[in-house]
Amino acid sequence: MGRVAPLGRCLLRAALLLALCPGAAGGTWTWLGIAASGGPEKMGCPSPPLSPRQQELCREKPELVPAIREGASLGLRECRSQFRHERWDCRPPPAAFGQQLSSGTKETAFIHAVTAAGLVHAVTRSCSAGNVTECSCDTSLQSGGSASEGWHWGGCSDDIHYGMSFSRRFLDVPMRNITGKNGSGLAAMNRHNNEAGRQAVAKLMSVDCRCHGVSGSCAVKTCWKTMSSFEKIGRFLKDKYENSIQISDRLKKKLRRKEKSQRKIPIQKEDLLYVNKSPNYCVEDQKLGIPGTQGRECNRTSEGPDGCNLLCCGRGYNTHVVRHVERCDCKFIWCCYVRCRRCETMTDVHTCK
Ligand SMILES: *[C@@H]1O[C@H](CO)[C@@H](O)[C@H](O)[C@H]1NC(C)=O
Ligand SMILES: *[C@@H]1O[C@H](CO)[C@@H](O)[C@H](O)[C@H]1NC(C)=O
Ligand SMILES: *[C@@H]1O[C@H](CO)[C@@H](O)[C@H](O)[C@H]1NC(C)=O
Ligand SMILES: *[C@@H]1O[C@H](CO)[C@@H](O)[C@H](O)[C@H]1NC(C)=O
Repeated sequence: MGRVAPLGRCLLRAALLLALCPGAAGGTWTWLGIAASGGPEKMGCPSPPLSPRQQELCREKPELVPAIREGASLGLRECRSQFRHERWDCRPPPAAFGQQLSSGTKETAFIHAVTAAGLVHAVTRSCSAGNVTECSCDTSLQSGGSASEGWHWGGCSDDIHYGMSFSRRFLDVPMRNITGKNGSGLAAMNRHNNEAGRQAVAKLMSVDCRCHGVSGSCAVKTCWKTMSSFEKIGRFLKDKYENSIQISDRLKKKLRRKEKSQRKIPIQKEDLLYVNKSPNYCVEDQKLGIPGTQGRECNRTSEGPDGCNLLCCGRGYNTHVVRHVERCDCKFIWCCYVRCRRCETMTDVHTCK
């Protein structure tokens, strides 16, 4: 994980961003995620990065503050992990985060979805842990099951309803505020992408069971509903990102595909939508907050996005030799110590020019 700028400066920059590009306001809450990974924990509901509506919700529900932070940082960590081998590695310089969020690209769509999903995941875990008064395990499942098939519901089933609705209230600009004009169409699209993230959490709910019975015979099973690991949700969303749909840039409340011949194909709740084509992310562009791939480590033999050819955008790469020293061939000597040799290995590291 890279270091982040000192928190104070981040927040100051976030304040500027909010002032300069209000279109970004919906996403700046993810600053909490950046702050959570490096900054002091003491702040409650800071403005910025939170919008006035989010601050109000945050103050109403102080017990959810840890989950809000955790949701933001869960989403960002997963974004970085899913994109670690790609030209865009989900690491815009902090000052540019808001700019990228308002750019309407597929990358923006992914950030919206993964952080909205992160919030559902974190809030739901808080509910299941008994940390929130308004929600708990899914009590509707506590009795029932199928005795004849030898299983029954038990334990704590995750109940995502509260998390889903909290994520909506916290992140989605209210529909009544979304009017026909261009900028607010972007809000409708962001809202759709947020929902796509939440739907991924819902869709990937699964059932876990534990066996009981004599010596693990599994005569009786106790089962409960559980959310998938966030990594699995991230992979699902990455796939949606790769198949994301470009929509018409005459943004209206009703979102339509750009491709006229495909307008009949309905847009699904889980689809990720974008309006603007992505830049290639190859070279630094401070205005757009793109760091470029110069200096990124690449893999000489890979044909994938992490391969030097693709990652370095054909500019070539530098190779340097990195020496590792380790203890090796360790032997236990009677009695009582371990003797090792020092082994040196050399590896080639390639970085983009
Ligand atoms: C629940 O609250 C306890 C005590 O504040 C905390 O240690 C724990 O991490 C919380 N668990 C979740 C899942 O939020
Ligand atoms: C949304 O609309 C309400 C009233 O309908 C207004 O008070 C609020 O400021 C609006 N919020 C945004 C972000 O435009
Ligand atoms: C929004 O409107 C501006 C100016 O009216 C235009 O340049 C832009 O292409 C429109 N669409 C988007 C998605 O920004
Ligand atoms: C480089 O890519 C090759 C082929 O995809 C893979 O087998 C190898 O493990 C990669 N090396 C590193 C250091 O990631």
